[in-house]
Amino acid sequence: MNKAVFQSKSPSETLRFGKQIGRLLQRGDVVALMGELGAGKTQFIKGLAQGVGVGKSVYVSSPSFTLINEYNGEIPFYHIDLYRLEEEKEAEELGLEEYFHGEGITAIEWADRIPSLLPGEFLRVNIHYTGKQTRSIELVAKGKRYEELLNNIEFRV
Ligand SMILES: Nc1ncnc2c1ncn2[C@@H]1O[C@H](COP(=O)(O)OP(=O)(O)OP(=O)(O)O)[C@@H](O)[C@H]1O
Ligand SMILES: [Mg+2]
Repeated sequence: MNKAVFQSKSPSETLRFGKQIGRLLQRGDVVALMGELGAGKTQFIKGLAQGVGVGKSVYVSSPSFTLINEYNGEIPFYHIDLYRLEEEKEAEELGLEEYFHGEGITAIEWADRIPSLLPGEFLRVNIHYTGKQTRSIELVAKGKRYEELLNNIEFRV
């Protein structure tokens, strides 16, 4: 499967769906999120982090000045937020390859700002606003690894 769509009816459903995906992630995986302001990217990533094993008591929030937050659990989890990035060139200094090809799992908000810097394979997550409390969450696999991941999703949250 190279595409899957999930309809979320609440912030907690988005979190639980993210958690389900997080449980399927492996070292070296990259999740690239796209979606307008307030779509729910950070909410989804909180779920991913829990699924990967970042402790529930560890507060996952968007990185501010650094652009990158690192959670060093058994599997490192990197949360990158490119909202403040003005042009793609600026991201060249962040050393993103080391995250993408490292031992951890990387989730990037506003990934559409670095189209040419994304790795060859990744899981794309597009979140669309469909109502005050509802969101459409579309997962698109770029590459075999992520197609396999999508085959293992259950739509129960
Ligand atoms: N079904 C839903 N799923 C996710 N968030 C929802 C949902 N319904 C309402 N919300 C609300 O939408 C907001 C989503 O915020 P969040 O910070 O996750 O968005 P974001 O895409 O990361 O925004 P930004 O572009 O500012 O980083 C929260 O206030 C959340 O409570
Ligand atoms: Mg955010």
